[in-house]
Amino acid sequence: GKLRVISTKPMPGSRWIKLLVDAGCRVEICTEKKTILSVDDIKRLIGRKCDGVIGQLTEDWGDGLFSSLKAAGGHAYSNMAVGYNNVNVEAATRNGVAVGNTPGVLTETTAELAAALTLAAARRVVEADYFMRAGKYDGWLPTLFIGNLLKGQTVGIIGAGRIGSAYARMMVEGFKMNVVYYDLYQASRLEKFVTAYGKFLESQGEAPVTWKRVSTVEDVLKLADVVSLHPVLDKTTYHLINKDRLALMKKNAILVNASRGPIVDEVALVHHLQANPQFRAALDVFEDEPYMKPGLGELPNAVVVPHIASASKWTREGMATLAAENVLGKLKGYPVWHDGNYVAPFLDEDSQPPA
Ligand code: GLV
Ligand code: GLV
Repeated sequence: GKLRVISTKPMPGSRWIKLLVDAGCRVEICTEKKTILSVDDIKRLIGRKCDGVIGQLTEDWGDGLFSSLKAAGGHAYSNMAVGYNNVNVEAATRNGVAVGNTPGVLTETTAELAAALTLAAARRVVEADYFMRAGKYDGWLPTLFIGNLLKGQTVGIIGAGRIGSAYARMMVEGFKMNVVYYDLYQASRLEKFVTAYGKFLESQGEAPVTWKRVSTVEDVLKLADVVSLHPVLDKTTYHLINKDRLALMKKNAILVNASRGPIVDEVALVHHLQANPQFRAALDVFEDEPYMKPGLGELPNAVVVPHIASASKWTREGMATLAAENVLGKLKGYPVWHDGNYVAPFLDEDSQPPA
């Protein structure tokens, strides 16, 4: 019979469906109205026979679901996300299920949202929008909504991987910011870019931009005017930004988070924002999504958006395609690509995957 592949949510585009159907799979898409599916909901979807599942970052993929998938004869699971802190990879492995994620296609889109959040916070765009709509604008004033100039300031990157480096590049090239970063690995492409762009600016008679790699998170927090968080969420990064570390930051700094909510102790952040009106935060992610910690939603010095960093059409279609390729790759025995993903290398629209 056909391979049965389930997607727990409708996903953008049709290429991912075509890919699976052309390879001989039967694709079932869950159209359940409620936003977040429970483990029991997904167990019901998996049923008695299921070969592979494409799931979402809101779902709890632990031993419960992987043992159900194994019992249904399944071997493949892909998160439609780059982050997979919702997946217990060890439980998957124990149950003989390969796990994929969707890196790469969301790098620029996610970095662009972090840049949008940075500008919104620096120039108080959301506060000013509320003010305008409330009919409070009664004439231009030299003192109205004064914000931060980014040019010549320092952007701090915690986690200078694909997304962190792309964001840093945007802030350097777009706003002539200097970079300070913390990462276990050297971000040599980023360093080279900043050096080259600094030389270009100097050749134009302008101040160069600079980069600095520091060996502690604390150093970034002390030196930067804007701090953007881009690490992976795991035990070592849970509450990486806490009360004591917030206290190290400049009084008028901006904290941006488009990674994972639990990287920040959100209660501590709310207190810090309340005590320091010049400090601003711009958040795409929250500790207990879809909820915000009490008080956050009332603070004028916070910008909050609902986990939309990867939400461009191109990227979301790309993530869906990659997730389908991951599942198909495992089921068809394609070689492992990078990052543990089972990906048929860049199938053309018309090409057939090998049987
Ligand atoms: C989105 O948050 C992702 O990890 O892809
Ligand atoms: C501000 O609107 C200016 O023209 O300086």
